[in-house]
Amino acid sequence: MLDGLALAVIEKRSPPPSWQSSFSPPRPRHTRTQTSPPSPPLHLQTPHTHTHTAAPADSAKMTVPPTTKAIVIKSPGHAAIEEVPTPRPREGYMLVRTLAVAVNPTDWKHVDLDLPGVSFAGAHSGCDYVGIVEEVGPDADGDLRPGDRVAGFAHGGNASCHEDGAFAHYIVAKAGCATRLPDGVSTPEAATLGVGVVTVGQGLFQAIGLPLPDPATAEIRPARPAEDPTILIWGGSTATGILGVQFAKLAGYRVLATCSPRNFDYVRSLGADAVFDYGSPDVAREIREAAAADGGSRVSAAWDTVVSADSPRLCAEILGAEGGSYGCLLPVPDAGKVFAVEGARQPIKVTHTLGYTGIGEHFVKWADFPASKEDYDFARRFWALARELLAAGKVKAARPIVDRDGKSGLEGVMAGMQELKAGRVSGGKLVYTMA
Ligand SMILES: NC(=O)c1ccc[n+]([C@@H]2O[C@H](COP(=O)([O-])OP(=O)(O)OC[C@H]3O[C@@H](n4cnc5c(N)ncnc54)[C@H](OP(=O)(O)O)[C@@H]3O)[C@@H](O)[C@H]2O)c1
Repeated sequence: MLDGLALAVIEKRSPPPSWQSSFSPPRPRHTRTQTSPPSPPLHLQTPHTHTHTAAPADSAKMTVPPTTKAIVIKSPGHAAIEEVPTPRPREGYMLVRTLAVAVNPTDWKHVDLDLPGVSFAGAHSGCDYVGIVEEVGPDADGDLRPGDRVAGFAHGGNASCHEDGAFAHYIVAKAGCATRLPDGVSTPEAATLGVGVVTVGQGLFQAIGLPLPDPATAEIRPARPAEDPTILIWGGSTATGILGVQFAKLAGYRVLATCSPRNFDYVRSLGADAVFDYGSPDVAREIREAAAADGGSRVSAAWDTVVSADSPRLCAEILGAEGGSYGCLLPVPDAGKVFAVEGARQPIKVTHTLGYTGIGEHFVKWADFPASKEDYDFARRFWALARELLAAGKVKAARPIVDRDGKSGLEGVMAGMQELKAGRVSGGKLVYTMA
């Protein structure tokens, strides 16, 4: 028996009250143009080269069916599994047969979105996928070919182009926002990469401006407190923070992170130099003191992957009068007030990023987002860097939680969106196999 959303949508009845929106649409972002951080120069030092090996047995040419099952947003708070025409790869895109997908908070939020003047009805849901390339469209970036096992980021819930979501058996996805997978990355692990890779690239490197790691020399090693700059990852056990901790370490930072005590060991195992319970009433003081210990440098950058009711204020307190960078994944209400630190000698530079701009195309949500070639070029190059680091075993995907409660496929995804919305996911990402 399916519960909650799954039952409601598969049988096409009204959604249960539990699925009614409790999500307030975000307000227009603090754009990077508002805060005008300089675009850090890209200095990838190792060219992205590889040779093609024979396509895995799994990729044996299959006939692409004319229709495919997909999760389609029907109305605010209501989605359904439907048979839709199999999309054709348009310019820059490829057709992928999905092997597995992962669920992100943005997926259920897009089902719930109810914005004046924008309808999401008809848009396919889902962002994270791993699959086999079936066909590559014209002018696709990269050198992906049919038969390649790829993971990437799709624009789920795209009111401006309905066919773009990942929750389907056959999908179209931008080739430049994907990577061919190294053999060492399992299919469930790969399913978790899409949103995370793009978001870490944008948030830590493009917006805050950490130096990009050199795949040849970068390593995760214990910090040298007196020498390494210090960054705080607020939400080190979120799916995004799990990658963020590793990439910040590879960039040469001393990493302090917050999470629940149940995830302390996991977040330390990713490389965090110290972990803190965000539930502690004294967490800001604890972090400031820990940063100063052993002659360590103060926290000069904070990346907030949660934006809870108090995390922006606590990050501002930790950055303090000396200022620094605060990057976030959701807009901060009353940011001007929150970041106006008393007696500030230096300002806090606030940057908010949105992964969808990395696809490089115009779209409409709570604001009109023009196509950003800059964001797309950065995302594309960051995928190449991520691939090298994954291949070298220097970055590990977020822990995949596969087919939870025995549910798989698109029905599993429906249940997964409910799980995530209810806050029942910790220290990993829900993955559903699509076979
Ligand atoms: N702007 C963008 O491009 C973008 C991209 C990705 C995600 N997002 C947004 O960013 C948020 C995080 O997404 P996600 O997928 O990374 O998260 P997630 O994995 O779904 O988040 C679950 C985690 O949140 C942690 N958590 C909950 N409350 C916390 C708090 N007050 N302080 C620190 N950690 C807390 C929990 O940690 P414990 O279990 O350890 O308590 C849990 O592991 C979502 O709102 C999402 O919509 C935005």
